[in-house]
Amino acid sequence: MEENNRGQWGSKLGFILAVIGSAVGLGNIWRYPYLLYSNGGGAFLVPYFIALFTAGIPLVILEYGFGHKFRGSAPLSFARANRKFEWLGWWPSITSFIIMIYYTLILSWAMNYLFFSFGQTWGIDTNSFFFGDFLQASSGPFDLAGIRWPIFIGIAFIWFVNWFVTYNGVSGGIEKLTKVLIPALAIIMVIIVIRGVTLPGATLGLNKLFTPDWSKVKDLNVWMDAYGQVFFSLSIAMGILITYSSYLPKKTDINNSAFITAFSNSGFEFLSAIGVFGILGFMATSQGIPIEEVANEGIGLAFVVFPKVFSLMGSLGTVFGVLFFLALVFAGLTSSISLFEAFSSAIIDKSGIKRQKIVTITAIVGFLVSIVYATGAGLFILDIVDAFINSFSIVTIGLLEALIIGWVIGADKIRSHNNSISIFRVGKWWEVMIKFVTPAILTYMLITKIISEFKNPYGGGDYTTSALVLLGWGLVGAIIILSFVVNKTKWKKGMLEENNYVEEEN
Ligand code: PHE
Repeated sequence: MEENNRGQWGSKLGFILAVIGSAVGLGNIWRYPYLLYSNGGGAFLVPYFIALFTAGIPLVILEYGFGHKFRGSAPLSFARANRKFEWLGWWPSITSFIIMIYYTLILSWAMNYLFFSFGQTWGIDTNSFFFGDFLQASSGPFDLAGIRWPIFIGIAFIWFVNWFVTYNGVSGGIEKLTKVLIPALAIIMVIIVIRGVTLPGATLGLNKLFTPDWSKVKDLNVWMDAYGQVFFSLSIAMGILITYSSYLPKKTDINNSAFITAFSNSGFEFLSAIGVFGILGFMATSQGIPIEEVANEGIGLAFVVFPKVFSLMGSLGTVFGVLFFLALVFAGLTSSISLFEAFSSAIIDKSGIKRQKIVTITAIVGFLVSIVYATGAGLFILDIVDAFINSFSIVTIGLLEALIIGWVIGADKIRSHNNSISIFRVGKWWEVMIKFVTPAILTYMLITKIISEFKNPYGGGDYTTSALVLLGWGLVGAIIILSFVVNKTKWKKGMLEENNYVEEEN
């Protein structure tokens, strides 16, 4: 049954797969492995699990309970909980849209590389192929230098898929897609891992990955990395979990869903760490170079190092290449859909206009803005926007969410809501986390990051101050201002009336 024209998951499994789809993304595949390796290997698991239990899981429970209790996208849930804080729902929703726009660029690269894998078009010098031949990177963020058509076509295709899926609604589109892509992704990852760890030299990589360096546990930056990764990876503070849980039926188990999704996400992270380092061990061995020289993260790993490894493998490399880029596309696609849905559903709720119309307009606008990323400056713009949004927006939103839902709206209310419908009850510890521990840690992180950004501006001199002010601080500031502006617009009639969403007591 579609409730208030908002849509509903067909099953709890559908919801869980959709959340896993959002959580499992590029962060799992290309960021986590390197983070684990460079932050003390096995020893990193200590800060990682502490971050998971003191901030990650508590916030997932919070967002699930909040969205489910108030039955709305982030702005609608906040407006229903307390009219004064509707803006705090818009901030993450608009941020989601901004992330979505650059996510399509990375997905377009991955699509292009999926095709390149068949002929290993990247040649021997994968570095100059990527930055030169493929991206034709310009001199900086303000030097657009023309559109790269293969990238443009990829972006258009990704927007089309996003549009098509969300157009078909929650159970008819998102759920159907994630039910296929997530199991497929799991299978691909298992294949990559099994073949990866049986390559000659793989154990060298795995030893390097897991050997614990306990001195790192004393390093504060390692802790910050752990919290940052848990946040980004679980898709917290983006309005996504609030929106997705609002599509659950009224009677459903929320608490255990939070644990299931968090642990599945961690499982994917370990899996990719093992796969990635097995493959890097193979490369290091066959080239006779140390792991330190081949280990990399992000764009460097996926588009420079790995293509090189695939070339070394001969025909097996073709299979690996196709599987790897397919994994990136699948993982990224389900994340991009969650970003798109979080934003669209906010607008649908507020305006009362039909889903199909809103997603069409949003996709067209988003696509048009994305064209900037298809130029020679795309890489630089992506780099700055991504850095600022991740360092500042996500942490600040998470902090405000914990404080405002914890103290003003009432952590006790959310806890009793969750416990009234869940088989497994969360204890008082959870309120202590949300009201004290999570905010304290996030405040510390935020202050440290702001200080370090002022001391050493992002990019280490690669970017001009005007680029950082405009694309970094300016964009983050503009999103906040826009949140307050949208806050002022009128709600569709009846949306905030309690009898439209409060469940009868029984
Ligand atoms: N969780 C995704 C990842 O690990 C990224 C993401 C962040 C997606 C925020 C949506 C929102 O890559």
